[in-house]
Amino acid sequence: MALVVSGIRPTGNLHLGNYFGAIRNFVKMQEENNCFFFIADYHSLTTHPTPADLHGNVKTVLVEFLACGLNPEKATLYIQSDLPETAELYLLLNMNAYIGELERCTSFKEKIRNQPQNVNVGLLTYPTLMAADIIIHKAQQVPVGKDQEQHLEMARTFANRFNRLYKVNFFPEPVAYNFGEELIKIPGLDGSPKMSKSDNGSSAIFLADSPEMIRKKVMRAVTDSGPVDPDQPRSQGVENLFTLLAYFSGNEALEHFESLYRSGSIRYGDLKKQLAEDIIRFTSPFREKMAALDSDHEYLKKVTNLGAEKARESAGKTIREIRDIIGFKPF
Ligand code: TYM
Repeated sequence: MALVVSGIRPTGNLHLGNYFGAIRNFVKMQEENNCFFFIADYHSLTTHPTPADLHGNVKTVLVEFLACGLNPEKATLYIQSDLPETAELYLLLNMNAYIGELERCTSFKEKIRNQPQNVNVGLLTYPTLMAADIIIHKAQQVPVGKDQEQHLEMARTFANRFNRLYKVNFFPEPVAYNFGEELIKIPGLDGSPKMSKSDNGSSAIFLADSPEMIRKKVMRAVTDSGPVDPDQPRSQGVENLFTLLAYFSGNEALEHFESLYRSGSIRYGDLKKQLAEDIIRFTSPFREKMAALDSDHEYLKKVTNLGAEKARESAGKTIREIRDIIGFKPF
């Protein structure tokens, strides 16, 4: 039984990348492990949401977590800001984190490039907050998508550095986890290698998208003018569609379209139609559950209260021990 922690930022609806990179694993892992899954609302403040947007997005992710099968009786399901112990550990870790190593982080460099008008300190110290989220529960396994690999490496660095500095063997080394397999990266519909919510949704299919919306988005997905030489690498857009086909349509459909591609007689429109219908079949049950949960305010309140209580019990214990190790002792 491993100790498992992971989180998702509340920045709108969850997409298929979030599902396959993270949530699908949360649902499997909660059966046999001690799991803590949270909505990373402190993290989302780097984008300066309005209070109403922040609250609405937290609710959306909570409803979607539950609709995907996260069970608050099995896993601890909580909102990050309900756990101020995280903020305290973040402060402590920042004392031993170096500006140079934070500046070298790929996600920080990307933010500088993409939003030079808002390079705040929260972005620079994002990896220390993420490390605090993980090690506040002394987690060993962290189910995440491939894009989080470097953040996990930094979490290990900060955990080990604390152990070394205070000559203790307190924090275990957390590892990014995907059942012994490579971490996953679901590609986008716009030809980008990663499906993402930060581009107005043109690359992403959200779990909440209606069937019409899914058809529209898939039919608009980027392709090319057709196979030229089937032995040459496929264009990124077409490659992405084949990857999605493997996830949603299964082997038979994949082989069917692979062979049409090789023979040069593929019609991308047919592939897209099949893919769209299979995605709709996959996401429909989630949508029905979301609609039912969305108005059940009492239940959502019960879930978050229970999660906060369980998370604080775990984090409270860690923080008391850390304070003692550091030398914050009562007189
Ligand atoms: P976030 O909110 O960007 O994404 C949530 C989870 O979804 C995964 N993911 C993907 N996986 C595969 N293919 C994709 N296209 C794709 N897009 C997103 C992410 O890898 C992630 O697992 N920093 C984190 C949130 C966080 C966290 C943590 C995670 C805060 N503290 C502590 C683990 C542990 C983030 O921004 O994820």
